[in-house]
Amino acid sequence: DLEKTAPARLLEWYDSHARDLPWRIPPKQALNGVRGDPYRVWLSEVMLQQTTVAAVRSYFAAFTTRWPTVQALAAADDADVMGEWAGLGYYARARNLLKCARVVASDYDGVFPDTVDGLRALPGIGPYTAAAIAAIAFDRPAVVVDGNVERVMARLFDVHTPLPSAKAELTDLAGRLTPDTRAGCHAQAVMDLGATICTPRNPACGICPLIADCAAKAAGTAQDLPRKTPK
Ligand code: ADE
Repeated sequence: DLEKTAPARLLEWYDSHARDLPWRIPPKQALNGVRGDPYRVWLSEVMLQQTTVAAVRSYFAAFTTRWPTVQALAAADDADVMGEWAGLGYYARARNLLKCARVVASDYDGVFPDTVDGLRALPGIGPYTAAAIAAIAFDRPAVVVDGNVERVMARLFDVHTPLPSAKAELTDLAGRLTPDTRAGCHAQAVMDLGATICTPRNPACGICPLIADCAAKAAGTAQDLPRKTPK
């Protein structure tokens, strides 16, 4: 059934098509038990909120070169961090970043919590970021739902409920596909699929590893999903 075959096919696809991203452990290493540094995973996820992967790359490199650990970032001057952030936009993210780094450094001895609930307790870490860090850095089977994941689920299950109402339904479906093992690779595989194949316009269904499972492809509705309630 789809709940087993789709995640297996997706991981197989990810093993040879994962994007090479500076904060990511390549699937071969991840398969050998190597995990991402929670600091780098957290930093990348905060930067990737409302900013593209292409734009984030150079900022991520600059930040991690200048502040290689959460303790280093916590000790930085506010003005230096704001200066390095300049151009990324949404400056509240940078202020929250620094606030969170200082709490992790002072109250957690520089060690990020390894559960969704523990991560949620940190300043500026919402449900998405907590799930992403728990999955990617700690391989917890957390349900990671961003815009890419919503689109993939809406198409895979041919969900016509418009967003934002569909959010709970799509999260439930994403949870049904989340495997107990390789949860970090799975989360990143769904995001990569959404970013590179199951794109908002002109999805590349011909090369999609999930084409056999996709209800929207069968119904001819992929292009129209997810639906959105008009503003
Ligand atoms: N978008 C946000 N986080 C991501 C990740 N870890 N991999 C790919 N795309 C992402």
